[in-house]
Amino acid sequence: LFEKFEALPPDALFAIKARCDADARPQKVDLGIGAYRDNNGKPWVLPSVKMSELQYSQDPSHNHEYQPIAGNAVLGEDAAKILLGVDLYEKDKTVSTQTLSGTGALHVAAQLIYKGDPTREVYLSNPTWANHRNIFESSHLQLKTYPYWKEDTKTLDIDGWLKTIEAAKKGSVFVLHACAHNPTGMDPTPEEWEQVLDAMAKYHHIALFDSAYQGFASGDLDRDAKAIRLGHAKLSKQSPIIICQSFSKNLGLYGERIGCLHIVNPTSASKANIISQLSTLTRSEYSNPPAYGADIASRILSQHELRDQWYIDMKTMSSRIYKMRVELRNHLVALKTPGNWDHIEKQCGMFSFTGLTPEMVERLETKHAVYMAKNGRASVAGLNTSNVEYVAKSIDEVVHF
Ligand code: LMR
Repeated sequence: LFEKFEALPPDALFAIKARCDADARPQKVDLGIGAYRDNNGKPWVLPSVKMSELQYSQDPSHNHEYQPIAGNAVLGEDAAKILLGVDLYEKDKTVSTQTLSGTGALHVAAQLIYKGDPTREVYLSNPTWANHRNIFESSHLQLKTYPYWKEDTKTLDIDGWLKTIEAAKKGSVFVLHACAHNPTGMDPTPEEWEQVLDAMAKYHHIALFDSAYQGFASGDLDRDAKAIRLGHAKLSKQSPIIICQSFSKNLGLYGERIGCLHIVNPTSASKANIISQLSTLTRSEYSNPPAYGADIASRILSQHELRDQWYIDMKTMSSRIYKMRVELRNHLVALKTPGNWDHIEKQCGMFSFTGLTPEMVERLETKHAVYMAKNGRASVAGLNTSNVEYVAKSIDEVVHF
């Protein structure tokens, strides 16, 4: 049965982590996969998560029963509210289902789109998170791209993006990074979002927001949901809005696989039908989603004390990352490393699209034990006060080489 299989390349981001983990050089720095590290380079369990876990462990009612197929309903509703805000959230028009984090939400969304219309074209930003392509391709959808990034100026290609929206088949699905664009760290300005979403409304396209970094761009949940809320204002009366939400980063629950898929439909009429489709799909794929992380997340979203601590935690993470951006840029400027490094500070979220070439990235890894994605994306969360100067010096050396 499997004799004809060829070996496929390993996942690029997880392969970086494996190589870095296996590297015995003590000075190694992992700027590969997007996972928050504290100033000691260690994974960080958020204080709000610790509080929630303590509560959970002391709660005599907890058990390990199955969840319903759609997962934790309280979490689904609260999760939708942090995206849409309590004012825009309409329960009768919103379908929320718990998923295996953002990847799972995207996968289920892709399957649902395919079920709705297998010929529907899906547009991804160029560049985008590498897994976007895998997910939509594995659902057999037709993939296209919209220009996003101008390498020469390190700015957004808004004209190219708008032209693509205009030329796309009516009703195309555009995958939009709600904030903290991965990999560029470059988000549209509020005016640019207006332009993009107006054009999408004009040509009757469908917005699929990937919200993996809410709270990471600005440290503020509401500010980081602005594009989604604007999209809701402009599009929700004419087409469904699909939102794929991850709690991996903003709650640091990476391994618990906690996220949600939300579909905001123009009318409440088809809500039950969408739920039934989702339910059948989920049941056949993984039956029902994990309970533990959902409980931990739900307590945080629904209780004031935990939620207030969470806001502080997000500020802690986003401000430390911002500080590292500033320090890395300042070191490069002080070293007079050829090029302009202002973009490192201007970009937001977990990543910086450094502009380093694949050859430079390779030399960073082989000579300096500094690991980042081949396209020059660095997870800024891997920097800390002990390694930022070393990383800057290493970048300086490979740029000069
Ligand atoms: C990343 O882009 O590094 C993260 O989203 C982790 C992942 O799953 O790829």
